[in-house]
Amino acid sequence: MSELATLLADANLADQVNYDGCVSQSHQPPVVLLTGATGFVGVHLLNALLHDTDAVVYCLIRAPDTAAAQARLIAQMQANRLWRDDLITRIVPIAGDLEQPQLGLTPAQFTALAEQINVIYHNGAATHILPPYHHLRPANVLGTAEILRLAGYLTIKPVQFISTLSLFTPKPLPYQRAPFNEHETPPCPLNASGYVQTKWVAERMVERAFQRGLPGSIIRIGRIFGNSQTQVMMNDNDQLYLLLKACVMVGQFPLSLQPMQMIPADFTSRAVVLFAHQASAAQRIFHLIHPQPIAWEELWSSVQGFGYSLTGVSAAAWVNQVQRHAAALYQSDPTTAMQLNLAAAPLLESPSSALQRTGFDARYANELLTAAGLNYPPIDAQFWRGHLQFFQEMNWLPPPNCCPSPSNVVAYWRWRAMQKQRR
Ligand SMILES: NC(=O)c1ccc[n+]([C@@H]2O[C@H](COP(=O)([O-])OP(=O)(O)OC[C@H]3O[C@@H](n4cnc5c(N)ncnc54)[C@H](OP(=O)(O)O)[C@@H]3O)[C@@H](O)[C@H]2O)c1
Repeated sequence: MSELATLLADANLADQVNYDGCVSQSHQPPVVLLTGATGFVGVHLLNALLHDTDAVVYCLIRAPDTAAAQARLIAQMQANRLWRDDLITRIVPIAGDLEQPQLGLTPAQFTALAEQINVIYHNGAATHILPPYHHLRPANVLGTAEILRLAGYLTIKPVQFISTLSLFTPKPLPYQRAPFNEHETPPCPLNASGYVQTKWVAERMVERAFQRGLPGSIIRIGRIFGNSQTQVMMNDNDQLYLLLKACVMVGQFPLSLQPMQMIPADFTSRAVVLFAHQASAAQRIFHLIHPQPIAWEELWSSVQGFGYSLTGVSAAAWVNQVQRHAAALYQSDPTTAMQLNLAAAPLLESPSSALQRTGFDARYANELLTAAGLNYPPIDAQFWRGHLQFFQEMNWLPPPNCCPSPSNVVAYWRWRAMQKQRR
């Protein structure tokens, strides 16, 4: 079957689910099923649900049993500095798996869950960008089919589906063709990553369920970074973090980067909860993206103000330098070498547009945010300082005073890799 035929056929997967039954009451307090609560977005979404609503939140977590599921969740909340002991009474961990039929639950557990919850936040997904479509299909496509089945089982439960604005950005990025409207269906992303393709198929499945009467919303989110309140950013796969790290390591930053928008995880989650609350029956699509692109100069001067010495060079020279550092570290610290290569990869493909994520119309979202008095947090020097401090605490960046020159940075990372091996 061709790639196109596979994606289109998979988009029909949940078409047999019927949404003619009674819609579950949005009784108080709401009882929510949240998927992906142990992930970067999910942990903030859980936090927002616990703080901005009275909800009891069932969390579907990959684990051998309930106790292990709870332990994973608490550890994740603690790592993100969001945990408080009193929250435990409003969290119900469930050991399950999106890849399995009935979410890995027994028929009795599946039925009990369908009876207990009255809204679903489907945020969980396999998010690696490298594997092909068929690797991610079980979690992202078949998992969404199971969620849509649960949504129509016994009572109808609105589904708030967390999607991504990357659906609009298969490479090469057509950034002249902006704005991408909230009601627009992104074109079938042939030649995109397996991740984007599975998210596109899952979104089409949710959209088709909406056409058959399922309430809910689709929230397409742009690039997410750390928490604007705690300054915690527990995602060391993030492209912007990798870029920062590479710049610190080589003592250079690429000049003339295109604008990039980024939104803090805490604000993202509060906005999602707001949209879901307002739009539970509206079958709306929202775009959530910071209206202000990152001011690159402010970022570089914050990094310099933190004590790192950086000079601006052309994107091509920067890529070259990063790749040389990666090659030098390949034997002693393959993880850092791979991170450097990942940081360089987007600029290698297309230096002028590689990090671009602009041109999205977010009118519905912004109207609701304004009406609720929820303002986008500024991404300013204070934001960057807090995050640089956090990266240092995590040992994700070397201390500034230990690396006065790029060659010393390499020496530092070699030394650090050796220390790790000894432990
Ligand atoms: N981060 C961003 O910048 C961004 C931007 C736009 C949209 N999004 C969307 O936001 C959502 C969350 O992304 P994220 O960045 O938070 O990703 P993440 O940190 O990788 O978290 C993914 C979550 O999904 C869970 N999951 C994966 N496979 C599962 C399975 N088979 N069964 C049960 N749970 C499974 C993971 O559980 P484990 O802990 O067990 O792995 C984890 O809790 C995704 O839908 C993504 O498309 C993210």
